[in-house]
Amino acid sequence: MKTTLDFTGRNIAITGGCSGIGFALAQTLIALGATVYIADIVKNPPAELVDHDRIHITYGCDITKRDACKSFIDSIPGRLDGLVNCAGTSTWEGKIGSDEVYQRTMDINVNGTWNMGTEAMRRMSGQEDVESPGAIPGVVRNVGQGAIVNVGSGASLRGVSGLAAYSASKHAILGLTRSWARDFPKLRVNAVAPGATDTPLAEATVAAAPTGDTNVIIGKAQIASIPKGRMAYATDIADAVVFLLSDWSSFITGQCLPVNGGNF
Ligand SMILES: *[C@@H]1O[C@H](CO)[C@@H](O)[C@H](O)[C@H]1NC(C)=O
Repeated sequence: MKTTLDFTGRNIAITGGCSGIGFALAQTLIALGATVYIADIVKNPPAELVDHDRIHITYGCDITKRDACKSFIDSIPGRLDGLVNCAGTSTWEGKIGSDEVYQRTMDINVNGTWNMGTEAMRRMSGQEDVESPGAIPGVVRNVGQGAIVNVGSGASLRGVSGLAAYSASKHAILGLTRSWARDFPKLRVNAVAPGATDTPLAEATVAAAPTGDTNVIIGKAQIASIPKGRMAYATDIADAVVFLLSDWSSFITGQCLPVNGGNF
């Protein structure tokens, strides 16, 4: 029996694929045989991604702009099997956050997911509803027209002191996920809710928080309360995304999978 996840011949789009969770995900999907299309605002992607023949990067792609999302999705040839909305921002806000930070956070996290998700669903909802061989001979899985995974947060499921705009934006991503799953039952649309994850973005958010603040989701006190005793690695989150993109989650849609080392 084949026990590996096989993405050979699958085209997967990832926003924010040049760092953090998106980068780990791109590397994992490549190892599993996928062809990966990355949209990222950065102009200088990591060396690991540049020369790979199954990685295609659209540099400087601003997901807050609908036309940028449309041309990115249009640039992907053949069948679009999956989209992962991974690009996001988080800024330490404090108790009275600034309107600028609120708007920027909503623009990237919510508008960005809305823009790319809408363009991908427009494309995917016209695709064939396919079946794929299962692990048991003679049994097939209906894998539908494609899969979308939105990267939410522990802050999709609870409030976080000092990160109200971020938490609102991540709650909104859950609302999009749940409604899109009902609107497009031949697709699968799910979210992951990572707890504290060791990424450059998390590091920058922690660095900006006042020292000694025990309520920060990614502060030292929070890490001490994670039963597994550490932050997630980006690969821990990427693995959950891979499951939700794969044929192995064929009947799961509209769900949010927390990945938090037991700190739920
Ligand atoms: C988000 O999208 C809406 C609708 O297109 C737009 O009006 C708004 O200015 C955008 N930005 C923010 C920060 O909400």
